[in-house]
Amino acid sequence: MSDQQGRFITLEGVEGAGKSSALELIADEIRDHGVPLQITREPGGTPLGEQIRDLLLDHRQREMADDTETLLVFAARAQHLHQVILPSLAAGTWVLSDRFTDATYAYQGAGRGGDIARITQLENWVHPGFTPDLTLLLDLPVELGLQRASMRGIPDRFEREPAAFFQTVRDCYLERAASAPNRFRVIDASRPLDQVQETLRQTLREWLATI
Ligand SMILES: Nc1ncnc2c1ncn2[C@@H]1O[C@H](COP(=O)(O)OP(=O)(O)O)[C@@H](O)[C@H]1O
Ligand SMILES: [Mg+2]
Repeated sequence: MSDQQGRFITLEGVEGAGKSSALELIADEIRDHGVPLQITREPGGTPLGEQIRDLLLDHRQREMADDTETLLVFAARAQHLHQVILPSLAAGTWVLSDRFTDATYAYQGAGRGGDIARITQLENWVHPGFTPDLTLLLDLPVELGLQRASMRGIPDRFEREPAAFFQTVRDCYLERAASAPNRFRVIDASRPLDQVQETLRQTLREWLATI
């Protein structure tokens, strides 16, 4: 589906893993490689997608059905691909996204207990044959991530979930990483920020040297 010149890199992990904190460092490494880069995020990444994000994260949306949540995530993603990701990659711009479809398997699949086969159907509808070139999974014990995230203020609709929810999310991420070792790099995000950043820098340099 894509006429891809640029590379697509995604960042995944539970809340508080340090994705947002890592974004600029990763961006600097990629730009040092001499390529243009678009930084984006999911859900969101477009004006329409950001409105959908607001709905998804709004803790007052207590009655949102699980199917609604999954479809909204993919609706935002369809717009994101159409408006940002695919045009950028086609133009030779690399794209770095804070979350992508792995998060749907982890949250709407494992976390919510959704039917994985249906998520795969939606994936095959919205982006057939298209996957990230590299996925950096920031992994840490969920309690530590939730503790970090709790310092950010009013918890969103996901951050209100119990630790058990995030445990299934983490487990799903690790399983997906184990089943696609060429695409994933698992980073131990429980360590101090400077150590996590050093590992990310090394990991990116090694990966960039292979492509
Ligand atoms: N390695 C780290 N050690 C300690 N605190 C961290 C680390 N990485 C991030 N943080 C802090 O944890 C909080 C959540 O980090 P953030 O990057 O927003 O996570 P995410 O985007 O994955 O939810 C922030 O306050 C951030 O400063
Ligand atoms: Mg973040």
